[in-house]
Formats: sequence, C-alpha cells, structure tokens
Amino acid sequence: MKSWARCILLLLLLILARGRGDVLPSVCGRSRDAGKIVGGQDAQEGQWPWQVSLWIAGEGHICGGSLIHPGWVLTAAHCFRRSQNPSFFSVKVGGLTLSLLETSITLAAVRSIFVYPSYLWEDTSSGDIALVQLETPLKPSQFTPVCLPEAQAPLTPGTLCWVTGWGSTQKRDLSSVLQELAVPLLDSEECEKMYHIPESSLSGKRFIQADMLCAGFEEGQRDSCQGDSGGPLVCVINSSWIQVGIVSWGFGCARPYRPGVYTRVPAYVDWIQRTVAENPSDICGCNSRASEAQLLVLLVLLALALPGAM
Ligand code: ARG
Repeated sequence: MKSWARCILLLLLLILARGRGDVLPSVCGRSRDAGKIVGGQDAQEGQWPWQVSLWIAGEGHICGGSLIHPGWVLTAAHCFRRSQNPSFFSVKVGGLTLSLLETSITLAAVRSIFVYPSYLWEDTSSGDIALVQLETPLKPSQFTPVCLPEAQAPLTPGTLCWVTGWGSTQKRDLSSVLQELAVPLLDSEECEKMYHIPESSLSGKRFIQADMLCAGFEEGQRDSCQGDSGGPLVCVINSSWIQVGIVSWGFGCARPYRPGVYTRVPAYVDWIQRTVAENPSDICGCNSRASEAQLLVLLVLLALALPGAM
C-alpha cells in the first residue's frame, strides 16, 4: 500500500475511534398532553417526560433536571455543592413519584458532571447551570427530550410557562407526586425592583444578573422551592415545549415581592451544545472507557502491522 493511503486509513480509523461529535436531538418538546412547588397541582403521567430526579447516594432526591439528549441531563450547578463525584449520583427517569417501586422507571448511572466553569458556589451566583452525562444513553422508548431555545430567543414578560418538580410544598419537605405550576415570565428590571422592597433593605446590591430570569407572582403564594432546583421552566413556543429556565434561587418560597429566579437558558445554549459535542456518548452501550481504550490499542496495532514504514 502506498504511504499516503496508509496515512488516510490511519486518519480514518482515528476519527472513527474518537466517536462522532454529538448534536442535540431534532425531535423534542413533545408531551403526551399539551408547589414549593408551592400552590401547584399534581402532574399527570407522561405530561413532563423530560423531567428527571437527581439522586445522591444514601439520601435520594436532591434536585430536578431535564433530558435534553439520550445521554445528557441539564440541571443547576448548585446541586453539586456537596460533591462533584459522578459515582455518588444517579438519575431517575420516568415515573410520577419519587418512589423506586414504580414500574416504567430507569435509574441511570452518571459518567461525568460538567459544572459551568465560572460558577462561584454562592447562593445567588451567575452561571448556575450544569450538565450531567449518563454512563449509557437512554433508548428512544425510555424518554422524550425537551427542546432548547435559540440563543437569541426573546423571552417576553407575561408569557405563561410551567415549572415542575418534587420540591417542598406548603405541607411537606418533598412532594411525593410531581407538581406542576404555571408562572408568568417577569421583566428583569421589575423583578430587580421587587427584590428591593421594602426599599431600605438590600439596597445597593444587584440581584438579577443578565443570565437570570424571574418568573412568578408579585403577591407570592405560588412558586418553585427547595428541592425543585435544577428542574425545568418550560414554555410552548411554535407548539413545542422549550426550556427557557432552570430553577435556581429565591428568597424563601412564594413570598410577596420575592419571585423565583431561574438560570436563563438562552444565555447558555452555546456552552451546552459545545459540551455535548465535545464529549460523545458511548454509542454501543458497552462499558465505555474500557472498550474505547481497547479499540484504540487495536487500531494502533493494525496500523503498525501494515507493511512498510509510514
Ligand atoms: N435553591 C433551591 C433548591 O436548591 C431552589 C429555590 C427556588 N426558590 C424559589 N423561591 N423559587 O432547590
């Protein structure tokens, strides 16, 4: 074989061995029907099929999350305050309650955790976003992903969107049945003003950063809450469900003039797409790291065994 042919062959093999860059699914945001969560109501089975529960070993549910891809969950960075070790976490997919006894659920192992690099691990910090890569991508029958917005998506104040989660309700620390709540998007300046009421307190500080989005009610009463974090805030845009926010923080829950604050997803779609593309999932479903290494060794041996020098 000519040496240029060997070079091309080797190059092709290497590209194959690395796996293809991954893109986000084109079919997304389809639900079967289309609190703390405080003031919400029980969701119906199959209504929010992208909603997942993030579990930490020994404790159970700590945060919500959403499936954006067979192998990827979007959640909040602050969910990993206690640990960023993937082996401590698992992702519960499917099902309406937090019970592991439900049929039709999958408990998926976590391969890697990607916390937004500039996140500061403080309560109201910017960049409260993280991606969780599953050890093995889910089968199409196991999930429906939510759609991501375009980076320039205009989020019009007053748009009615939905937040879902198993977080605290008025009565309990965690809700056993997934709760859903409709909340209007708020103008960031209006929200900033609310956070300064009464005027004397908290003056001088800026709360609502450019990568945040408020949703909720001036009068309080209805809001996301502790345990809902990382979960999705979704709106219907062009008849698909698009995730515009991630439950991030609030002062208390459902208090007057203290609406829920969400990570503004359009600000991070580039980072999400880049992270997913740069970290291809294990397509064959075999034990990823070991088999990738084996494949590489095999290819190198093959290339060396080809007659003649490069
Ligand atoms: N930080 C909370 C959590 O870890 C979520 C708070 C949302 N608060 C609110 N008032 N909307 O679960």
